[in-house]
Amino acid sequence: MITIAAPAKVNLILRVLDRRSDGYHNLWSIMQTVGLEDEVSIHVAPHRSDIQLGCDDVSLRTDQSNLVYRAAAAVLERSGQSVGLDIHLAKRIPMGAGLGGGSSDAAATIVGLNRLLRLGWSPAQMADVGQVLGSDVPFFLYAPAAIVEGRGEEVRPLQLAGGRWVVLVNPGFPVETKWAYQQLSATRKGIEPLPEWLRRLETRGPLLWSEVLELAVNDFEPPVFSAHPVLRKIKEELLAAGAEIALLSGSGATVFGVFRDEVGALQAVSCFQPRRELKVFAVPACTGPLGER
Ligand code: C5P
Repeated sequence: MITIAAPAKVNLILRVLDRRSDGYHNLWSIMQTVGLEDEVSIHVAPHRSDIQLGCDDVSLRTDQSNLVYRAAAAVLERSGQSVGLDIHLAKRIPMGAGLGGGSSDAAATIVGLNRLLRLGWSPAQMADVGQVLGSDVPFFLYAPAAIVEGRGEEVRPLQLAGGRWVVLVNPGFPVETKWAYQQLSATRKGIEPLPEWLRRLETRGPLLWSEVLELAVNDFEPPVFSAHPVLRKIKEELLAAGAEIALLSGSGATVFGVFRDEVGALQAVSCFQPRRELKVFAVPACTGPLGER
């Protein structure tokens, strides 16, 4: 039996570049995991050969369409093992939220099975199995921070010096990723090229949080804010509550604010507390890789 924590992520920078021949878009992103976590617990049943998945959130399907199920099936197939698995997913990360929850669950399943079945796979081998499941899966195998390119499969781990707290404000409704990409393509005039100085960050040593925050941008903000003005309002409210920066995460719907310390983050949370429709979390940025509980 093994339990792996599956953290959420935020995108501190998210540039969406050209559309590729496979229908996906090339990205350039700095991603960082944060301390809001799902948990994947896996138990091997050696005398069976089926996968049984349970989840404490009844709104999530636990059949073969679930990313955890698909990740487990992919690992068994790639490794040639035929054992039974009982998996339980404790769901805390909001869904359709731009926080990478499904991808993180899939990555945690791969990490857990790699240890439990003693497969000895490297992060690159795990990412190879995971990338077909979701564009954000490879990132989680190199977390806590990385520069992510291509469709999401090119990941360069990054050291972000200094810590921060993050306040996640989820509006209580989802934004579908595919829809957000379509809106972006339909509304933007052209693709702003990636500046050379941004690309140069790839070859630098450790980056400071403060210098990355100065560059914070998310190309999804204009189209997603225009369809959901409440999200722009949340961004303004986070800034008014003292956030160094506030930004849409991924394609939304979560907006996050970055704070120097826990005290500032908790103060901001109290500003949103009376609004029952929102899901609000104050969490530290993660400092380590996906790990065992
Ligand atoms: O890979 P994932 O399931 O997260 O992608 C959901 C949808 O988002 C894809 O079907 C695609 O339309 C869009 N997408 C994209 N370019 C990416 C990632 C996702 O166009 N790099």
